[in-house]
Amino acid sequence: MRYDVPDRVRENAATPIRDLDRYRETHAAAANDPNGFWLGVTKERIAWREEPTLGLEGDFHGIAEGPLSWFGDGRLNVTESCLDRHLEARGDKVAILWEGDEPGEVRKLTYRELHAEVCKAANALAALGLKKGERAIIYMGMVPEAAIAMLACARLGAVHSVVFGGFSADALRDRVRDCGAEIVITQDLGVRGGKHIPLKATVDEALAGSPSVKKVLVYKRTEEEVPWDASRDVWWHEALGAAEPTHEAEIVEAEHPLFVLYTSGSTGRPKGVVHTSGGYITYTSYTHATVFDLREDDVYACVADVGWITGHSYIVYGPLANGATTLMFESIPTYPDAGRYWDMVQRHGVTIFYTAPTAIRALAAKGDEHVTKHDRSTLRVLGTVGEPINPEAWVWYFDVVGEKRCTIVDTWWQTETGGIAISPIAPATPTKPGSATLPMPGILTSLRTKEGAVIRGPGQGLLCIDHPWPGQARTVWGDHERFVATYFGHVPGAYFTGDGCRRDEDGYHWITGRVDDVLNVSGHRMGTAEFEAAIVSVEEVAEAAVVGYPHEVKGQGVYAYVVPQGGATVDPASLNGACRTQIGAHAKIDRVQVVPGLPKTRSGKVMRRILRKIAEGRGDELGDTSTLADPSVVDAIRDGFVTKD
Ligand code: WT7
Repeated sequence: MRYDVPDRVRENAATPIRDLDRYRETHAAAANDPNGFWLGVTKERIAWREEPTLGLEGDFHGIAEGPLSWFGDGRLNVTESCLDRHLEARGDKVAILWEGDEPGEVRKLTYRELHAEVCKAANALAALGLKKGERAIIYMGMVPEAAIAMLACARLGAVHSVVFGGFSADALRDRVRDCGAEIVITQDLGVRGGKHIPLKATVDEALAGSPSVKKVLVYKRTEEEVPWDASRDVWWHEALGAAEPTHEAEIVEAEHPLFVLYTSGSTGRPKGVVHTSGGYITYTSYTHATVFDLREDDVYACVADVGWITGHSYIVYGPLANGATTLMFESIPTYPDAGRYWDMVQRHGVTIFYTAPTAIRALAAKGDEHVTKHDRSTLRVLGTVGEPINPEAWVWYFDVVGEKRCTIVDTWWQTETGGIAISPIAPATPTKPGSATLPMPGILTSLRTKEGAVIRGPGQGLLCIDHPWPGQARTVWGDHERFVATYFGHVPGAYFTGDGCRRDEDGYHWITGRVDDVLNVSGHRMGTAEFEAAIVSVEEVAEAAVVGYPHEVKGQGVYAYVVPQGGATVDPASLNGACRTQIGAHAKIDRVQVVPGLPKTRSGKVMRRILRKIAEGRGDELGDTSTLADPSVVDAIRDGFVTKD
């Protein structure tokens, strides 16, 4: 099924890519001359202090020697693109439109006000000792001050690392230590769905024994009292109250690191993915304007969290670089009821709305009346990101939410790609439910066999990207070797995404999901190894293996196979407790099966393929199990298969 672009999306397009022919021309032009293309884009969109003359230096083949570079001779500060240069033409335009936890609890910051707040925060952070190149951890909820803190770090040339507010003290401590943060920026309490989240208390717990952190800057969101260490803690309102509203931005090299964002991989601890300045801001600005066909009077709402890459690229950096009005949403989609998103769309006149499949499925299950009782006539573009969207959910989004008048952009990308890599371009690309459609200009995708051979034409394989692009991650913080091994160790000369993909006869991409041991639960990326480490830390557990299984709302559910220690009894609650303390509240095991042993090869490797099949309910399609050390263990596992959460 193919959907043509609805008229109101096609008409008056702002992007020059107005139809499929323009898309093909632009894609071909970028492929033939990537440097010319991206230098053109960055000069048009970004406020450089010294314009670059160089495009790409280095390539994927040479990545082991060190990170590659885009716009290497350019100098800038990204906040001048996001703030200063808008002051003249857009000073009184709303930059951040904040909707708090309670419906109608609204704050509006114009570009002028946001600029002043960022300058004050930069001055305050500088007074606390934060310098260019040093790291600041941001552990906050969805308040405008989270964006202000990010931009203030960038203003100083300091490197921020936002840690999602759902992560536990243990997870926060690991991240503080890994990046050697000097400062933590947090708030007293997070407010979400009518509940309070003890952010400051969690920071206190995480920092016990982390000497690198000298100061904690605390934004006061509520009237509640929180524990206080006067030698270390500083109130945001006091520090900013004493600070000047102007600040001379620190001008940095294009490749100066902008932020580190931790993300889960298939093995080991989360990696600190590093994004740099000039290439990242160019790519997020370009893709934000192009995919959504941003227009000057748009009210743009991305309801992700700044703790994930979507919040970095498409709530903060891309939209602000484009002078857009960007909504920040503190609450959850079902508070106070399942109509919250559409209530906001009506009250704020939202024109572009960007969310995740898991939210779409959860809301579809609550019934259409929550949607239809609100006026959604302002909507033009509906976005989705984070996991494959099933056609049923897509069609509900299109028919019910968008009343068939809006186009859907299913945007495929990753923390590592920095911005949207495969997606429809709103006015140009006919859509197919479930397909992320075509690669962005400058993104050269290939499908490969396990051996790395390129698959031509329609087919299915491992999704790779064959040429560098400005928004890509440059390295893993403190571990370039791991970066190279993870992304460039599989297919020589290409970036391996970790996803499988099918390409149809129109060249449209259909992402089939991760092919590695990364889970995607409600759009949250988590490693099976992280779950397993938490589970085996429980005394009664000898061994564990975790796999994903299809889940109607969450996309994937978490299925744990647990081998007890001796004759011990394992309490599933203690397993979830360990995951909550070691990872966070969002790391929940859905199904636990106690098993006598794990299926292993004679060399001791756990055969996860078998465990995945059983968890998916396909225990009768296991194929050859004769290479197992003890094939009888499979029968026992299959017989005890758990079908309820
Ligand atoms: C993984 C990246 C990109 C921001 C949020 C997630 C999956 C992402 C789609 C999509 C199918 C998708 C992939 C990818 N994914 N978007 N539109 N269709 N799958 O970022 O946490 O780095 O996760 O999310 O599996 O590899 P992330």
